[in-house]
Amino acid sequence: MSLYDAIFARRSCRKFSQAPVDEDRLIHLEKYLSLIRALDPKIRTRFELVRADEVRLGGAFLVSAPYYLVLYSEEAEGSRANAGYLMEQAVLYLTVYGVATCYQGGVDKKTLPAAPAGMEPVITVAFGLPEGSLSGSRARRKKLEDVCVFRDGAGSDVRKIVEAARIAPSALNRQPWFFVAAPGRIHVFCRPTPLMKGQEFDCGIALLHLMLAAEENWYTPKVVQVKKLPDKLPARMSYVGTVLLETVR
Ligand SMILES: Cc1cc2nc3c(=O)[nH]c(=O)nc-3n(C[C@H](O)[C@H](O)[C@H](O)COP(=O)(O)O)c2cc1C
Repeated sequence: MSLYDAIFARRSCRKFSQAPVDEDRLIHLEKYLSLIRALDPKIRTRFELVRADEVRLGGAFLVSAPYYLVLYSEEAEGSRANAGYLMEQAVLYLTVYGVATCYQGGVDKKTLPAAPAGMEPVITVAFGLPEGSLSGSRARRKKLEDVCVFRDGAGSDVRKIVEAARIAPSALNRQPWFFVAAPGRIHVFCRPTPLMKGQEFDCGIALLHLMLAAEENWYTPKVVQVKKLPDKLPARMSYVGTVLLETVR
């Protein structure tokens, strides 16, 4: 299974076995974490693996799991989207190896290991082996037409690429993303959500899914900030970034 395949296999797990994950796998995870690509490499971040038998986490609706992965980041423009982009790579990596995950938005930050200087904890993911099977129906998602407009000339493979972003996980399954697919590019926008902040984090996850799906479709994509955005955009959306669908010749 590739990271791209893992997009479709992943589901949030809310019942973990307390059995340990193979120590070699955890060592590989830590190596992988040191290699994953950032949306903005200038933003300082740090992952920390927490073992539930060593550190007792608390918080609202915390899912009990043998391990938690915490991502700390400095606060900067784009740091939330960058954090979503980073953490989702870890989540998909674990999925590839049969390790189940669940994002934990309600962790009590006071119970986490102290943040490195100048950083704060952004998100925690519970992980471990699932108790029982994870397959089954997926939490509902918005229809493709409700999250994307396809401008003329956008290309037929773009639907497949956006589909991978459509099924991304998001806090409270709010799916705050909106895409505008134009020739050679997909613009990503974020809808404001009334109850909670942090939707840029979800949009960072969706952006990662777009990148993996673009690579799967033989593009060499890159994320940029463009100066000229398409006109007639839906109101009150904030711009996250644009995936350029480049091909190597
Ligand atoms: C930033 C973020 C925070 C989340 N927080 C929680 C949480 O605190 N508890 C929980 O059970 N699920 C949490 N989730 C999981 C979402 O509820 C889940 O991704 C969404 O309902 C879609 O379901 P799926 O992940 O099974 O596809 C969170 C997801 C994200 C992306």
